Amino acid sequence: MDTIILADWLSARLDRSAAEPMYRQVLELMQQAILTGQLAPGTKLPSSRTLAIDLGIARNTVLHVYDQLTAEGYVTSTTGSGTYVADTAPREGAVAKARPEEAKKPCTISRRGERLIAQAGVSPKQWGAFMPGVPDVAEFPSRTWSRLQARLWKRASPDLLTYAPGGGYRPLRRALSDYLRVARSVKCQPDQIIITTGIHQSIDLAVRLLTDFGDRAWVEEPCYWGARSVLQSSGLTLVPVPVDEEGLNPTERDMATPPRLALVTPSHQYPLGMVMTLARRRALLEFARQHKVWIIEDDYDSEFRYGSRPLSSLQGLDDAGQVIYVGSLGKMLYPGLRMGYMVVPENLVDSFRTGVAELYREGQLMQQAVLTEFILDGHLTSHVRRMRGLYGERRELLINAIRARFGDSLAVRGDEAGLHFVLELPQYADDSAIAADALAAGVVTRPLVNYYMNRDEALRGLMLGYACVPNGEIAPNFARLAAIIERALTSLEIA
Ligand SMILES: Cc1ncc(COP(=O)(O)O)c(C=O)c1O
Repeated sequence: MDTIILADWLSARLDRSAAEPMYRQVLELMQQAILTGQLAPGTKLPSSRTLAIDLGIARNTVLHVYDQLTAEGYVTSTTGSGTYVADTAPREGAVAKARPEEAKKPCTISRRGERLIAQAGVSPKQWGAFMPGVPDVAEFPSRTWSRLQARLWKRASPDLLTYAPGGGYRPLRRALSDYLRVARSVKCQPDQIIITTGIHQSIDLAVRLLTDFGDRAWVEEPCYWGARSVLQSSGLTLVPVPVDEEGLNPTERDMATPPRLALVTPSHQYPLGMVMTLARRRALLEFARQHKVWIIEDDYDSEFRYGSRPLSSLQGLDDAGQVIYVGSLGKMLYPGLRMGYMVVPENLVDSFRTGVAELYREGQLMQQAVLTEFILDGHLTSHVRRMRGLYGERRELLINAIRARFGDSLAVRGDEAGLHFVLELPQYADDSAIAADALAAGVVTRPLVNYYMNRDEALRGLMLGYACVPNGEIAPNFARLAAIIERALTSLEIA
């Protein structure tokens, strides 16, 4: 292509009515012409004045384009002699050639990535009736938060705006350790607290620091899909371990090959809702001590218990330093806050503080400082207390709606705590199809089968979150869901 054709070639492609500035259009077109060889290496470009006149655009625009092309290495220019297309194509033989069949294959995601995507449980909808695991974010005391935030921003010191020192804002770690000692009987010093962006990150960090690729990890069957994905995509081999009314119930076969790590939800089994008994807790701790198994205790929602008092943590019973306790502020405050904490055994403190800084380059100290004031001024406790009352009412409204429609024919389980419960369905029901129909009708539920690794043995049911649904919307939304359940069950009974 010679220089005169360049102007024609550009003219034919420029869109003079487009919102995209002329500079960007000319630049991108010329880059494309050079990369595809239409402007061959060594070609002399027209002078900026000539090209500007031929295109009917400002000379400055062309000068900017030439400057950018020079800066990015597409052209070289020497004062006096003009601007030439640079020779940047890889030399023949400089790049190792793949075998023809390899070269033809498209570049795709890894097998690990494929598995993660295929088994993903994350929903496109994160709000509305009956989204499980989500608190009522509309009730968040945003005025109080913004007042504290404004006060802190007025004297924002540089150390609050830079990277966090390993582990997070020290006053927050102190406030959380006081809170966890009292509310959850967690045995900890402020140093043992590591602030993270939530339970997902806490588990990820623990897995990276405590396990090696291919190690075995016990997960409860069923369990939270998000935690399972984090473990699996870190290269662990997952072993689903059954749960019964007393919590985790490993078989002799399971115990014959101890894992490196076990992930459990002792205070409120996720998703079925039972509490691990003291006998099972002691057995698990003893097993962990004997076989050097790390236990991750996911204590995701135990602040919300209705009726009975919250149970102590498993970590509080651990004398051997085998338990990593993880919790989140996502359910107490709002999930988008992305703030959580882990409590690590004393001998791991330095490794975890370095690990968290090295892997994630943590920050958000300003946010952590706001949260510290929020806790110290008593707002966290009063907000959680108020929400417990509100969610308790909503839980009752939903249970009443279920009873009014189905009597005792469909059982509710796991309703003593948390932000959700399970509505059991008969074993012949297709909970996945019911959840899909409900979603199409605007009602979010999660089928129980999604939480199992062995889907053939799954209990059938729907996870119903009530915490984020305003009182007046519970009955009408449940009526829509109930109609879908009834239709599905009747058609299966007839078949
Ligand atoms: C059992 C369990 N663990 C952890 C999480 C996620 O916690 P975070 O938002 O702190 O990552 C959830 C979210 O629903 C959950 O249900």
